[in-house]
Amino acid sequence: MTNSIVSTDLDHIRKMVGDRARAFDGQTIVITGCAGFLGFYLVQYFVAFAKELGVKQVIALDTFLLDKPKWLTDLADEHPDHLKLHAFDISTDDLGSIPGADEAGFVVHGASIASPAFYRKFPVETLDANIWGLRRILDFYRESERLKGLLFFSSSEIYGDPDPAAIPTPETYRGNVSCHGPRACYDESKRFGETMAWVYAHQYDLPITIARPFNNFGPGMRLGDKRLPADFARAVIDGRDLVIHSDGTPTRTFCYVADAVAGYLLCLLHGRYDYFNIGIEKPEIMVREFAEICRREGEAIFGYQGQVQYQASDDPAYLEDNPNRRCPDISKARSVLGYNPTILVDEGVKRYLSYLKEAG
Ligand SMILES: NC(=O)c1ccc[n+]([C@@H]2O[C@H](COP(=O)([O-])OP(=O)(O)OC[C@H]3O[C@@H](n4cnc5c(N)ncnc54)[C@H](O)[C@@H]3O)[C@@H](O)[C@H]2O)c1
Repeated sequence: MTNSIVSTDLDHIRKMVGDRARAFDGQTIVITGCAGFLGFYLVQYFVAFAKELGVKQVIALDTFLLDKPKWLTDLADEHPDHLKLHAFDISTDDLGSIPGADEAGFVVHGASIASPAFYRKFPVETLDANIWGLRRILDFYRESERLKGLLFFSSSEIYGDPDPAAIPTPETYRGNVSCHGPRACYDESKRFGETMAWVYAHQYDLPITIARPFNNFGPGMRLGDKRLPADFARAVIDGRDLVIHSDGTPTRTFCYVADAVAGYLLCLLHGRYDYFNIGIEKPEIMVREFAEICRREGEAIFGYQGQVQYQASDDPAYLEDNPNRRCPDISKARSVLGYNPTILVDEGVKRYLSYLKEAG
């Protein structure tokens, strides 16, 4: 049976995207990194509303390096006409070998491990997905007459640890990033990917739009993902204390995934070169405040009795180059795309934990 939070969220996304989704009519959509956190709602959006939108088919590609999730294989089994799933490495494999990929009207390049714990474990694969993977996509589609939109997932990490004067951070901020160290494989390959997107957009007139996600969380984030919301959710479910590996003072604005995915779809539909921060600008809260929200909602939903604890990570590089503050200026996405996130962090945590409770 469909999870009620998933249904509500898909409906929320559908409303936020609105009539602009008519552009998906008759189109093939290619999604790389389909098995990841953001793939969860991106794939389900296109499949759930395939008939209504007139989507021809969704071609979903992933190496399944970290996981081959059951929700995805179940969905492919249930919708064989609309969803074609392929084990595929975008950095090395040939898109020409995938039936129908050349007909794509819309392409989403989301392949790239996003969790710091895992991209540090797979730094070469991370570079490859954002550089060679993107290059292979751009070369494959650069002569395409059918392509209407190509979305490249960059990251808020391209700003590094922003100067306090650049908080909230607008798209025009050029960043404060180290090209060495444990995060560089991610941050710098996203930066280079953006440069490549600019070059191809201008050289070959490709309709590339870049999204810079800021700290999304919610359903689809695996409990073993090792990003903060997943760690806290897992601790709540296991009845363990919530452990913070810093002093709890770094700040973030946590954006619930249903708002963010609608933002990504609006980017995809934009269909021309531009780049947008996608996240939510308020409230900017400390990690320890986020832990407290998880504790409180955990108590209400699961009867959780744990506490918040501070403990250094076993990994000495855990906090290296960790941004102190992260908060987007989303006025450009608001005015150009009509992106309007409304789900604040308390409500988002409630939905994430309720989804997990219902999923069992
Ligand atoms: N979720 C966020 O808050 C956030 C923040 C900043 C940037 N992003 C970016 O958004 C995109 C999606 O993020 P996510 O949270 O879903 O990431 P994720 O790590 O949950 O999923 C990424 C998926 O990409 C797949 N993948 C990696 N390399 C691949 C390759 N070479 N070929 C095919 N598949 C490959 C992985 O197997 C995984 O299923 C990524 O590019 C990420 O860097 C996300």
